[in-house]
Amino acid sequence: MSSLNEEQEPLPQEKPQKKDISRRQFLAYTLGGATAFMGAGAILPMIRFAVDPILHKKGEGDFIKVAETSKITDVPQEFTFELPQQDGWYASTATLTAWIRKDESGQIYALSPVCKHLGCTVGWNNDKAFPDEYHCPCHGARYTKLGKNLAVAPKPLDQYTTKIDGGWVYLGDIVPNTEANKEA
Ligand code: FES
Repeated sequence: MSSLNEEQEPLPQEKPQKKDISRRQFLAYTLGGATAFMGAGAILPMIRFAVDPILHKKGEGDFIKVAETSKITDVPQEFTFELPQQDGWYASTATLTAWIRKDESGQIYALSPVCKHLGCTVGWNNDKAFPDEYHCPCHGARYTKLGKNLAVAPKPLDQYTTKIDGGWVYLGDIVPNTEANKEA
């Protein structure tokens, strides 16, 4: 005896209709597109917020007002100044130093005080055994007035880019010294 189910004709497989598939696809595309659009609207501002400090490298290429040109002599003088810094979302201020002088033609130069041996701070005319030189107290590096390395340090002192405007000396980025090797 066969069961009732066995006697029943199998239901014909419902053939997918072209019209139904199109409707489903239309809905899927519409919903997918709307979701992607809303998602992008929510996520893009967050991405922009996260990368904004990278897009805006604050401080790079800027010049800081440091000293009156009338105060600059042919003897290097130490000037300190404040540099606003931006590290990601953290804003701070660094205190920097420059040794500024002018040459016979009135051209103004500013040297970084960071020793090119291991990074201590050099001073001008601070070693009686070697007058009129920059001297590093850590391991005895010595430099000429233009920053040329005479002992211990492998390179000349770096220099600041400078700009003169309205009777003031402005200092910018620290760059490799281009003047030191002109010295005899
Ligand atoms: S750090 Fe200046 S001599 Fe070593």
